[in-house]
Amino acid sequence: MSRSTTPLVTSRQADLTAAFLSCRNQTLRLADGLTDADATVQSMQDASPSKWHLAHTTWFFEEFVLVPGVPGYRVFNPHFRFLFNSYYETVGARQPREQRGLLSRPSLDEVKSYRAHVDDALLHYLVGPVSAAAEDLIELGIAHEEQHQELFLTDILHLFAQNPLRPAYRPGFDVARMHETRAAASWIEFPGGIVEIGHSGSGFGFDCERPAHAVLLRPYALAERPVSNRDWCAFIAAGGYGDPRWWLADGWAAVCAGGWDSPLYWRREADEWLQMTLHGERPIEPEAPVHHISYYEADAFARWSQARLPTESEWEAAARGQPVRGHFADSAHFRPRPRSAEPDGPLRQLYGGVWEWTASPFLAYPGFQVAPGAVGEYNGKFMCGQFVLRGGSCATPPGHIRPSYRNFFYPGQRWQFSGLRLAEDR
Ligand SMILES: [Fe+2]
Repeated sequence: MSRSTTPLVTSRQADLTAAFLSCRNQTLRLADGLTDADATVQSMQDASPSKWHLAHTTWFFEEFVLVPGVPGYRVFNPHFRFLFNSYYETVGARQPREQRGLLSRPSLDEVKSYRAHVDDALLHYLVGPVSAAAEDLIELGIAHEEQHQELFLTDILHLFAQNPLRPAYRPGFDVARMHETRAAASWIEFPGGIVEIGHSGSGFGFDCERPAHAVLLRPYALAERPVSNRDWCAFIAAGGYGDPRWWLADGWAAVCAGGWDSPLYWRREADEWLQMTLHGERPIEPEAPVHHISYYEADAFARWSQARLPTESEWEAAARGQPVRGHFADSAHFRPRPRSAEPDGPLRQLYGGVWEWTASPFLAYPGFQVAPGAVGEYNGKFMCGQFVLRGGSCATPPGHIRPSYRNFFYPGQRWQFSGLRLAEDR
């Protein structure tokens, strides 16, 4: 005689448990080899200390999942709500962003204990009955932590770049593995027309990717590959950084105020350009995509090239036909430095390698709805003055990116792995 039983753990809970464990372990691995000092210091307001990333991602699960969902849950330390809230006005007061680097306490070890405390509680929670809304929040917390994994890398690179010793975060890799891409980029044409962009609603997506909607595109073309360091050296040699004709007014002001003459982390020594990387300071790799440039620089390069930046709709319409495959921060082959690559589709290196600036401001899609509760602050309140980047980078966790994925930064920011791909009208 058979008898039916109700499984204690649903398949979604099992999937979330596996994804949670994998994500949490990967974040901890990123901190391997860092001293407490490395993990505490803050190099600028935009960048956060490693220790803060480790704790803030943990606080997210504690604040939004465990406190409201687990009766009698004991918070690890009631002060952490102040220390590790990022920007949630709904939650309350918090440590000023520019003072995150003053948190010499709690220690790195204590933050790791905090992580273990929250991990235990969340894994225990996931073996009991969990509402769909709570499951959605856990899924959001995992995607949120993956975003911070990328920021962890970009922020430690910025920190180490301030150190005259040019420390390497991880050992280097063999530059000889680079694939040659000397030829000028060719163009891939697209017919335009009415196309659908945005998240379909199937599977996870951030609120800003929704809803899917139709847009009208004129015929256009995208460059077959991202702009390379070699291309960028030609722009520098042509006096691109010294010629206001190519620059937006705000961009020219940034060039003058910052003394920009090359991408962030570039330094000229004799006849050679060097670049600070997560492998220490290394010679520029000419064939690799250029990265660590601002929107202003991307736009100026496009004007100088007699081309333009693509819109995010053009980018997404072109990406729909390509598999999401590329150079991501794969923990098994961890090489967080963009490199040249074999052709992997009609549009080479569309995913991974470098984020690609688009000409599109980060705005709400038609029909955009803010999520209820504090997590409604996640994206919507940042829809002013920023530009969309697409495709992910070598610092983005694998599996994190979708065709509809929208990253966004202010036009003067350049500490991310940001590059560009040219577009033109047809
Ligand atoms: Fe965050």
